[in-house]
Amino acid sequence: IHDFTSQSSLLNQFITEMRDVSIQKDAMRFRRNIERVGEVLSYECSKVLENTNETVTTPLGTKDTILPVKDVVICSILRAGLPLHQGILNYFDQAENAFVSAYRDHIDDGDEFEIVVNYMATPSLEGKTLLLVDPMLATGRTMKSVYDVLLRQGTPKNIHIISVLGSTEGLNYVKKHFPEDTHLWIAAVDDQLNSRGYIVPGLGDAGDLAYG
Ligand code: PRP
Repeated sequence: IHDFTSQSSLLNQFITEMRDVSIQKDAMRFRRNIERVGEVLSYECSKVLENTNETVTTPLGTKDTILPVKDVVICSILRAGLPLHQGILNYFDQAENAFVSAYRDHIDDGDEFEIVVNYMATPSLEGKTLLLVDPMLATGRTMKSVYDVLLRQGTPKNIHIISVLGSTEGLNYVKKHFPEDTHLWIAAVDDQLNSRGYIVPGLGDAGDLAYG
């Protein structure tokens, strides 16, 4: 787990604006802040991804260099995953892309809910590097449900979860239900979840704040 809580004042600036009730109403800034977190975490994540060795020809000679692996698939969870997806795609410009829908279906309008996954468009994941993307990791159940469905498209070689804000419980859930070598990149973690599974103090409903 790569938890950047309080480690980076830049990331904190983005998250603080997303939390702040007087700033988060600006949906364009909210989306851009999610995207900026995606850009920063992509860079951090790139430091541990496999590389390929290549040689570039300049006007004056050649230079050996390392480049990102070509087999990266960015998979984001609709809706709130979209701006985070874009931030990651801004840097991994060769990546393939997958989109999966997931929503909480509250039973009898109560606190209990099931995760419904009913849309998926994805390339094969067999042997590839999967970046699984959702800005909010509350209970962790959405991430796990989506992963279960994705496995029908093949087994990825490496899994990196990229998220903006999580709860301690969500992190523990992911640790328990994903393969041991899964990396989790997250900009901030709060301690509490309320009875409806919302992160406290959190920031509210990221999907609504981004898209109304
Ligand atoms: C929110 C959020 C995550 C999920 C996290 O989505 O964007 O996808 O809940 O919760 P969990 O970790 O407890 O499963 P929501 O269902 O509100 O859909 P939306 O993105 O379309 O608003």
